[in-house]
Amino acid sequence: MSVPRRTAVDYVEDVSPGSGTLPPRAWYASSDAKALSLNGEWLFRLSPAAGAEDDSFAREGFDAGGWGRIAVPGHWVLQGHGSPVYTNHRYPFPVDPPRVPTENPTGDHLRVFDLPPDWPDLGDGGAVLRFEGVESCARVWLNGTELGTFKGSRLPHEFAVGRLLRTAGNVLAVRVHQWSSGSYLEDQDQWWLPGVFRDVTLSHRPVDGVRDFFVHAGYDHRAGTGTLRVDSAVPGRVTVPALGVDVPTGEPVTVPAKPWSAEVPRLYDGVLATRGERVPLRIGFRTVEISDGLLKVNGRPVLLKGVNRHEWHPQRGRALDPATMREDVLLMKRHNINAVRTSHYPPHPLFLDLCDEYGLWVIDECDLETHGFAEAGWRDNPVDDDRWTPALLDRAARMVERDKNHPSVVLWSLGNEAGTGRGLTAMAEWIHGRDPSRPVHYEGDPDCRDTDVYTRMYAPHAEVERIGRGLDGGPRKRRRLPFLLCEYAHAMGNGPGGLADYQRLFESYERLQGGFVWEWIDHGIAHPELGYAYGGDFGEELHDGNFVCDGLLFPDRRPSPGLAEYGKVIEPVGIAGDGGNGTVRVTDKYDTADLSALAFSWSYQVDGETVASGPLPVPPLAPGESADVRLPAPPPDAPPGEAHWLVRAALAADAPWAARGHVVAWGQFPASRRTAPRVPATARPRTGDGVLALGPGTFDARTGALVAIGEVAVGGLRLDVWRAPTDNDEGAAWQSDPRCGPRWRAIGLHRMRHRLDGVECGEDALTVRTRVAPAGRELGLSAVYRWTSDGNRLRLAVRVVPEGDWTVPLPRLGIRFGLRTADRVRWFGGGPGEAYPDTRTAAAVGRWQAAVDDLQTPYVRPQENGARIDVRWAELGGLRVEGDPLFLLTARRWTTERLDAAAHRTDLVPGDTVWVNLDHAHHGIGSRSCGPGPLPRYHLRPEPAEFSFVFSPLPS
Ligand code: GAL
Repeated sequence: MSVPRRTAVDYVEDVSPGSGTLPPRAWYASSDAKALSLNGEWLFRLSPAAGAEDDSFAREGFDAGGWGRIAVPGHWVLQGHGSPVYTNHRYPFPVDPPRVPTENPTGDHLRVFDLPPDWPDLGDGGAVLRFEGVESCARVWLNGTELGTFKGSRLPHEFAVGRLLRTAGNVLAVRVHQWSSGSYLEDQDQWWLPGVFRDVTLSHRPVDGVRDFFVHAGYDHRAGTGTLRVDSAVPGRVTVPALGVDVPTGEPVTVPAKPWSAEVPRLYDGVLATRGERVPLRIGFRTVEISDGLLKVNGRPVLLKGVNRHEWHPQRGRALDPATMREDVLLMKRHNINAVRTSHYPPHPLFLDLCDEYGLWVIDECDLETHGFAEAGWRDNPVDDDRWTPALLDRAARMVERDKNHPSVVLWSLGNEAGTGRGLTAMAEWIHGRDPSRPVHYEGDPDCRDTDVYTRMYAPHAEVERIGRGLDGGPRKRRRLPFLLCEYAHAMGNGPGGLADYQRLFESYERLQGGFVWEWIDHGIAHPELGYAYGGDFGEELHDGNFVCDGLLFPDRRPSPGLAEYGKVIEPVGIAGDGGNGTVRVTDKYDTADLSALAFSWSYQVDGETVASGPLPVPPLAPGESADVRLPAPPPDAPPGEAHWLVRAALAADAPWAARGHVVAWGQFPASRRTAPRVPATARPRTGDGVLALGPGTFDARTGALVAIGEVAVGGLRLDVWRAPTDNDEGAAWQSDPRCGPRWRAIGLHRMRHRLDGVECGEDALTVRTRVAPAGRELGLSAVYRWTSDGNRLRLAVRVVPEGDWTVPLPRLGIRFGLRTADRVRWFGGGPGEAYPDTRTAAAVGRWQAAVDDLQTPYVRPQENGARIDVRWAELGGLRVEGDPLFLLTARRWTTERLDAAAHRTDLVPGDTVWVNLDHAHHGIGSRSCGPGPLPRYHLRPEPAEFSFVFSPLPS
């Protein structure tokens, strides 16, 4: 006997977007109509399958006594019910659209509420129940009556509920399924986190209240006027007091106005008043267009210095509170970021309000990704199957209608990594028709059939340059479009490298209008034993490990060195030294703003200490203009030493996003040469008692191994070429170009053996010859250590010559040794943060100090980190080291081997030795965890090299 499969849960697998919801409309934060937040504690029951429990819980009088509690907004898997799952693009269930697994965790949510005493009479108008976001599918009842169902996790859904409300004891029941047909459209690279994760609100809808409205506010840059027209489903009046505007809805009015831009986000407060309701408006006048092959706002091309932002909080997942959203915006503004792609779904609507207010260009992206279909050559891809088109159009409409009144939104994006197909074309056509004022973006269509900009992800520098020069060929339409990198510079772990090289290209070719670093924040989940958990830490069957931790912020929103680097690279003011003729070249790199908001200053530094400083008058440059500004004469009484000019541009007055004095740009350049340390080899080696003494150095006479410098015991000093591979060294498995980490390991660079070939004690030097090579290989490095001294200081010159057939770059080249104690490090060189050859723009030469523990960069998955670059000298553990040439310094309480073996920060247990690396060079960082590796000029080629260090004991 065959059993018909159709049941009460069919809606879960139905391709339709849902039933019973109201048409989408514009969002607004508040109005004079009453609203009741239904956020808070709800009753909760989790069952293992969509049909495991009947719907009696929605009925009145149901006894939920045995149920648990859950915070709404929230994800149940982050509140002790089940666990999260992370996959990049593979669906974590069998792919058989639109069917989903029988094991379909289902969360029943219940909330009983009374209307507040001041709620209008129930006969007066209606009421709307609104869900801002529920993953992935919901069925809703109020007071025992089913309202309907919906999908589209990061999109709003509303039901008319007026007729069902009562003053007290309303029972709201929401059944949420983790998997639904909608899951096939939501295959973004992130945690799968079911739940009612955005606000739930009940709003009174007065008779003749505002329904949908569309604020059209264009700016004519030639005339300096704004034209405003507010179309409203319910007619009314629009007033903007500051502009003297008082017009009926639907009627355009042109007034002199200031434009809105991300740099100067001028908003005008207004009101849309219908007979029944007054809704506050925040109007920003701006016109977006593609003309002359360029993306222009208010007549000028813009250079997007962007980030991809997923919503993330380490405890609450995608249930973000307003304070966290504001923190994101402030951090972006303080790091010179001017654009956000809301990867890969419309964000909480408040975030866009913040973008309007503080000034950020936004690409608003639809909640659509079907990337998992790539595994089977895009067969059955929903975006190329007409049955799914209504669901796609529903998603497009819910995004556009909700967000259309934000001046910050300058482009609509159809979604991410969904292949190509008729459904996307239908979405683009609908969007173009509904809102011709904004261009459409979508990366996945190489022909740009449906899009108004050409965008790519992770294109290497050389290709970006070709595109900039217009040499990229391709379909005719595409060749005429402006170019964006909607994703580049994969910020996973240490890195990304090569940002400055991309920015140089963006600033050199008009067609290149910037990009969006992938991504804003690591999606690590706070975990009691692991610190931050990533894919696999919850026993997922399929997962993609720490690929989910690839942001410029650590999960706790502490900026990573990558963010410091990015903020420096995209500074809105160029400040460049002239090579010694006493001037500095200042360039206004804003798109629209002059430099009047900034105050410039100079300082003159000797050996990293500021010895004189003062204000620097800079002419009021317009965007794109440069001026050579004369610096003062160097202070006559400056002490001798290595001198630098440091010129800063800081906020002249408090801005909404940072206080007066906040530095937005700086440039540093040498004012004199550095003199390398000189140590004449005047001391003679002395032997006795199995030890050899040379100046302050004590060596093992047999092996030539350094034992102590003065009173400071020094252990295990030897050549080191290994670094704990970074995520970018490891590279992504799908990369076709060679990945360093696996190749290094295959050769055995992590297990080099050191063979002693000879110890020669000469007249004025101790020479130790070694060969450093991995087992099983012919290749190796000859390393000769030559020690000399002037009696007080000990100089080590290391000469390295590669032998055999090296086909890989070296990870690092330098020496390492152990010190028994070292709590603090002082150094003169690049700082204050981590820097590697292609991530070094933010390192300023100065005197810095830090605790050894604070030199570590807390990458969620431990890896090489924390190097300080261009170090002239450093002091730690009772020793002073000077370098010739400059060196990179790391110091940590565990070995590189331990660092390499750790999977989480909590695996790193401090030992009783501080391991110090003094590196002549490091291989670059690059971005190969998803994009290209380091540019060839940052490769550490195995070539003959010589470098030296001068050690001296510090007075105790
Ligand atoms: C892109 C994708 C992002 C993310 C990134 C790698 O292909 O659009 O969602 O997966 O790669 O982290």
